[in-house]
Amino acid sequence: MKIRTYPCLIIFILASCTQPANESRSDSGPPLPHHIKLSWVTSPATSQAVSWRTGARVTQGYLEYAEATASPFFQDDIIQIKAQSDSLTSDDGLWNYHTVNIKGLKPNSLYSYRVGSDSSWSEWSEFRTATGGLEPFKFIYFGDVQRDIYSLGSRAIRQAILANPDAKFMLYGGDMVHRGALNIENWNEFFPAGGWIFKNIPTIATPGNHEHVNAKSGEDLADLWYLNFAFPKNGPENHLEETFYVDYNNIRVISLNLCRYKFKEDRKEIYKWTESRLKEFTGDWVFITHHYAMDASARNRKPGIRFPEFKKLYERYQVPILLTGHEHVYARGRMGADFPIYVVSVAGPYQNAIQFGDWIERAGTSLQLYQEIHVSPDTLHYVAKTVVGEVYDDFTIIRDKSGKLNFKVKDNLMPESLIPTINFGERYDKELVDSYEADKEAYLKRNKE
Ligand SMILES: [Fe+2]
Repeated sequence: MKIRTYPCLIIFILASCTQPANESRSDSGPPLPHHIKLSWVTSPATSQAVSWRTGARVTQGYLEYAEATASPFFQDDIIQIKAQSDSLTSDDGLWNYHTVNIKGLKPNSLYSYRVGSDSSWSEWSEFRTATGGLEPFKFIYFGDVQRDIYSLGSRAIRQAILANPDAKFMLYGGDMVHRGALNIENWNEFFPAGGWIFKNIPTIATPGNHEHVNAKSGEDLADLWYLNFAFPKNGPENHLEETFYVDYNNIRVISLNLCRYKFKEDRKEIYKWTESRLKEFTGDWVFITHHYAMDASARNRKPGIRFPEFKKLYERYQVPILLTGHEHVYARGRMGADFPIYVVSVAGPYQNAIQFGDWIERAGTSLQLYQEIHVSPDTLHYVAKTVVGEVYDDFTIIRDKSGKLNFKVKDNLMPESLIPTINFGERYDKELVDSYEADKEAYLKRNKE
C-alpha cells in the first residue's frame, strides 16, 4: 500500500465544522465504509466497479456479492473479493481507499453487494447489469455541482433521481467539487450529497479544471480523482481514467479531459484517440462530455471557440450532443453546423451572468438544472429540468432511414430565465453590467426572428 502525504492544507481542519454531520475524521468514530459508489471499469453488461473509503485503522477492504433474491437468506451464495487498496493523507487525515471490479456477471441481472471487513460492513445495496440490448433507456447529466454542495448542490442529484429512479447512470461534466485535492467542503460533501443514490446508480464523470490540483492548469489531476473513482483505463496511455469511454448498450459515452488542451502533445494524443473511437463505433449514438464548453458563455470570459480541431471532428462524425459545463449558466445551440448540439449546464448553486453568444438558441441563468437523456435506436430525447421539476428545455434528434439526423425543439417552452446572478453588480466590471439589459433584449429579439 502506498502512503502519500498531501502538503499544506492544515487550515482546512478549521473548516471541518461545516461538513455534513455524518463525516467524521479518519481516526475517530466507527471505521464504517463510506463514500460507496458504483462506476465502470469494464463492460456494464458483465461487470460492476465499486469503490469506497475507510478510516485510518481499516487498511483492507472486501466486497461481497450475490445474485439478488427477495429472500434475505442468501448467505450461502455470497462471493467475497479482496479490494485493491491505497491510502492518502489529505486535509482531514489519512484515509484508505478501496476498489473492486466485479467481473463475470450476467447481463440484465440484479445483484446485491456490500463492502467492509471484519464486523464493519455497509448495508446490502443492489445494482443491475446492462442488458446489452436495444431497448429504450435513459441517463442523467449534471453540469458543475462544485460549491455549497451539501447545502444546495445535493438537491439537483436527489431531484433528478426521484424523478428518474430508473436512470441507468449519472454522467457528471466535471467540477463536481471546488477543490478536487481536498475532502472538507468538497468530496466530504459531494458523496453524502448523493447518499445512497451513489450505491445504486453508477457514476461516469469527466474531470473539470477544479478536480485538478491547480484549477487554472490542466496539470496534475488530483490523486483523489483516481482514488474516489474507478473508470476505464482505455484512454491514451498518460490519460487513464480521465479520457476514456464506456459502451452502455447501443451508446458510447466519451469523457475527454480537455483541461489538458493547452499542452500540445496531450492535445494531439487526445485528438488521435478520439478520432479512432468515433471511427470504430458501430452502435447507435455517441455522447461526448468535456468540462470546458466549446465557447465561453460566462459574461466575464473571452468568447471564442476553445477547441477548433475537436469541433471539426465532432461535425465530421455527426456527434449529436456535446455535454459540457464550466460556464455556470445554461446555454444550448449550434455553432455553424447542424450537429453537434452544444449543451452547457450547471447543477449547483454557483451561477454566472451570461454573454449572449450568437450560437445560443436557448439560454438560462440563476437556475439549478439537470438533464434527462432518453435513448432509443433512432431517437434521442433531451429534457433539461430545473431542480423544482419544470421542463426548461426539450428537444429531439431523430435519425431517418438514410442516416440523416433531424433536430426538433419542443414548442412552447417556458420563458427563459435570464436573471443575472446574485451580486452581479459587484462581481462584474461596470461595462458588463451596464450593457446587460441591451444585450438581453437583442438576444431575445434575435431568437424570435
Ligand atoms: Fe465550475
